Amino acid sequence: MTASTSHSFLSYLADIKELVAPRLSQVVATASQHPRLQQALVHSIEGSSKLIRPFLVLAFARCVHKPWTAEIIDTAVAVELVHSYSLVHDDLPAMDNADLRRGLPSCWRAFDEATAILAGDALIPLGYDLIINLPLAAETRLALLKEFSHAIGGHGLVAGQMMDLYPNHDLQSIHDMQLLKTGALLKFSCQAGILVAGSPDPLLLDKAGQFGLNLGLIYQITDDFLSEQSTVEMTGKPVHNDANKVTFLTALGTAGAKSYLQQLLEDTHALAQDFENNDCLHQLLDFLAIRTF
Ligand code: IPE
Ligand code: IPE
Ligand code: MG
Ligand code: MG
Repeated sequence: MTASTSHSFLSYLADIKELVAPRLSQVVATASQHPRLQQALVHSIEGSSKLIRPFLVLAFARCVHKPWTAEIIDTAVAVELVHSYSLVHDDLPAMDNADLRRGLPSCWRAFDEATAILAGDALIPLGYDLIINLPLAAETRLALLKEFSHAIGGHGLVAGQMMDLYPNHDLQSIHDMQLLKTGALLKFSCQAGILVAGSPDPLLLDKAGQFGLNLGLIYQITDDFLSEQSTVEMTGKPVHNDANKVTFLTALGTAGAKSYLQQLLEDTHALAQDFENNDCLHQLLDFLAIRTF
């Protein structure tokens, strides 16, 4: 990957931020009549999010030539809201006990545990409301809601979080855990970009889902490396905190995890070839391969 690819991807992410962040702030700004909960909700979306999931919604919409209209932006915001909830709860003392998130005190540190639990709880219906109110055919909204629920519930993200807390040490279990914990919402983000456009091609939808699942594995391996090799300043969250965790790095060692990552990157670049306007998909993979935050 060249410096210019990295630079153009980062400026692409900055463009996505310009589109998504104002709407995200607007939606959260009036999310609760309770002042403390309202402050905690605003805190939960502040700081240095990379907005990778909104990026994926927009990127896959672009793959099917769907313009970035308000319904695409709102779908992207819905995913970011639920992702943010998952991080607020992930940082709680009962889970990862993390003090820092996106360069800020984690929600429970800035407020208190109960407030962080409730702020997380309130972010979920905020995301659902956006999808329910999309100005799209009822059939399209239902398809989105069905996939969204599947991605984040007890057969998706929450199941993965449970496996993270009560891990099995074999490679298959680690694989399954990462696919659920991180892959499921990334899969939804990719498929949502296609679903919003309406009349999805089932084969393409399937490939987008596979792209998202592979990203989940790539994302977690690079996250494991960052946790070992990066700094709090770079990542905006605690490092060296995976000592009690079961990860690809603990299971495969540095060399093994690196070669698995390379294989995944190759496979996922190949998957991207099946999409039109796939330049930003390749750039995302190149970015993830060398990310430092
Ligand atoms: C962090 O997600 C949690 C993982 C799945 C590794 P991101 O790295 O996408 O976090 P933000 O949203 O950019 O802060
Ligand atoms: C977070 O995973 C994944 C979810 C919140 C679903 P991790 O616990 O591995 O990620 P970080 O390092 O806290 O971002
Ligand atoms: Mg965790
Ligand atoms: Mg964590």
